[in-house]
Amino acid sequence: MQDVTDAAFMKVVAEFGAPDYFVTEYFRVHGHYQIEKHILKSITENETGRPVFAQLIGQDIDALVRVAKQLEQYPVAGIDLNLGCPAPVVCRKDAGGGLLRIPERMDEILAALREAVSGRFTVKTRVGFHSIDEFERLLEVFSKHAIDALTIHGRTVKERYQTPVHHDCVRRAVESLPCPVIANGNMVDVSTARAYHAHTGAAGLMIGRGAIRHPWIFQQIRDSYEGKEPKQITRLDLLEYVEVLFETTAAAWKVFDPSKHVNKMKKYMVYISQGLDAEFEYQIRRAKTPEQFFEICRAFMDDKTPLPDFPPEHSKLFCGFRDLL
Ligand SMILES: Cc1cc2nc3c(=O)[nH]c(=O)nc-3n(C[C@H](O)[C@H](O)[C@H](O)COP(=O)(O)O)c2cc1C
Repeated sequence: MQDVTDAAFMKVVAEFGAPDYFVTEYFRVHGHYQIEKHILKSITENETGRPVFAQLIGQDIDALVRVAKQLEQYPVAGIDLNLGCPAPVVCRKDAGGGLLRIPERMDEILAALREAVSGRFTVKTRVGFHSIDEFERLLEVFSKHAIDALTIHGRTVKERYQTPVHHDCVRRAVESLPCPVIANGNMVDVSTARAYHAHTGAAGLMIGRGAIRHPWIFQQIRDSYEGKEPKQITRLDLLEYVEVLFETTAAAWKVFDPSKHVNKMKKYMVYISQGLDAEFEYQIRRAKTPEQFFEICRAFMDDKTPLPDFPPEHSKLFCGFRDLL
């Protein structure tokens, strides 16, 4: 995830129960593009013990092929192409989710990248641009190119993040494609993850925002499938996570600036504070120094009350996840 899944954040998640694979935020590939060093670090300085896929976004075939080959020189698990980003500035350039409107172009890009990438080549998509009626055509294109896996964020580009996911589309892909399909979108705890899996029969699950809020989620899901009782997380556990996140991401600055770092922490806190007191969210937004920041965290987290499994459902961040159940 952009501005989130860097080497430091991945390291923190790994400490609390790593997923089987990580994916970098996307490299924005265009004509004269040079690999962005700060994103490359999530590959070259990956301390998670888990493999990482390098994700590309773009629509210039020569540039995509060139950068995919360059990235394969680094220790990547594979090359992943983003066909899901809904940002208008990306879609206007017919990149990311914008490419779903042009299946012929998508077809050419997949063919070129499949030929160029010697290791794993995977794709991340949504279920259409305007409507799920486009999905069958997209599946036809995906099925032509011997991709090694397809991750599906079960919303259209137009739906952005604000709806339930179309798990029936993911199931359709599982049934019709020769490659493993990975389900994504709206999993916030063990029950929503297991429900998405049960609805779709997907080969794997990808979790984004739910892991910022709750990095234990991967281990909890694993435990649940192994018949173990998933660990109940308390506010004190959350405080420990915030402390580790603060310290680990602080070490990544070239020159540490306390107030800039507090602002960086606020980006994570938007997710972490979901389901805690509204007053906590209000106060943390106003913190300026690390001292203020931790004083507020301790005031709201320094006890062993269990955390709610679910974030509030009708916030802007997490919407429609109960539809999975
Ligand atoms: C802040 C943010 C940044 C994101 N950046 C990326 C990205 O770089 N590449 C990508 O494939 N998806 C990106 N996504 C989308 C997520 O990977 C995921 O598909 C989406 O959030 C739905 O899954 P979730 O409910 O588990 O978060 C981003 C999402 C957010 C909220």
